[in-house]
Amino acid sequence: MKPKMVIGNWKMNKSFEEADDLIIAIGEQLSGLKLKTGVVLCPPYLYLELATDHADEADFSVGAQNCSEYKNGAVTGEISAEMLAQLGVEFCIVGHSERRKFFHESNQTIAKKVDLLLESQLVPVVCCGEVIEERKSNQHFEVVEKQIKESLFHLSKEDFESVVIAYEPVWAIGTGETATPEQAEEMHSFIRQLIEKKYGTEIAYSAYILYGGSCNAQNALELFTQPNVDGGLIGGASLKANDFVAIIEAAETAIKEN
Ligand code: PGA
Repeated sequence: MKPKMVIGNWKMNKSFEEADDLIIAIGEQLSGLKLKTGVVLCPPYLYLELATDHADEADFSVGAQNCSEYKNGAVTGEISAEMLAQLGVEFCIVGHSERRKFFHESNQTIAKKVDLLLESQLVPVVCCGEVIEERKSNQHFEVVEKQIKESLFHLSKEDFESVVIAYEPVWAIGTGETATPEQAEEMHSFIRQLIEKKYGTEIAYSAYILYGGSCNAQNALELFTQPNVDGGLIGGASLKANDFVAIIEAAETAIKEN
C-alpha cells in the first residue's frame, strides 16, 4: 500500500504566537517518528513563513489554504501561486466548500487556480463534496463527478499526477458528524473509477484521495484503513499538536495494517 498523507487545514485560527508554538510542537512530536506518512501544515497566509522556516528540519511540508485565480498584477488583496512557491510553500488547498460558499467559487475558478499552481510547481489539493440536501436526494455522486470533471479533467496525464483530491462531504465539515467508513469508501472508490476512465489504471491507483470532515484521533484509523482512503484533510483536530499527531500515527498504523 502507498504511504498515506495527512494535511492540517487551520482555517482562520490562531494568533501569531499560538501559530509559532503549534508549528514547533508538531515539529518536535514528529521528530524521531520516521514517518512514511506525508504531513502538510496549512496555516493562514500570514503564518506561512513561520512554517516554511521550520519545514526544512521538520518532517512536514507547508501548504496554503487558497491562492488567486489571477497570475499577478492589479488584483488588490490577493496572493499568487508564484508568491507561495517563492516562500517555499509546496501545497495549496483549492475549492474548499467554505470558499465555494462564502466566496462563490465555481468549478471554473478552481480550474484556473489549479493551472496556476501547477505552473508554479505547487501541488493543488482540490476539494469536492456534496451538501446534505444533495446526499438526501441521492445526487451526491453526480455532484462530485461534476466538480471533479470541471475542475480537473482538462489536465494532461502528467499534470493530473501532481494533484491531490480531498473528498469532504459538506455536512461532515466542522459538525462532528463524520461520514461512516463505508460512505467514505464508496465515494472514494467512485472518484478513483472516474480517474481510471479518464487517465488509466496506473494514474488512478497512484492518485491521492483524502477524506475530510470531522476526522479525529478516534475515527481516523477506521477511515484510513479503507482501501481507497489515502489519508485525511483535517480541520478542527489539526489545531492541537497531540490530536493532529495522533491522527498521523493512525495513518502510520493504517499503512502497516493494510
Ligand atoms: P473539520 O474540517 O475536520 O473541522 O471537519 C475539515 C476541513 O474543512 O478541511
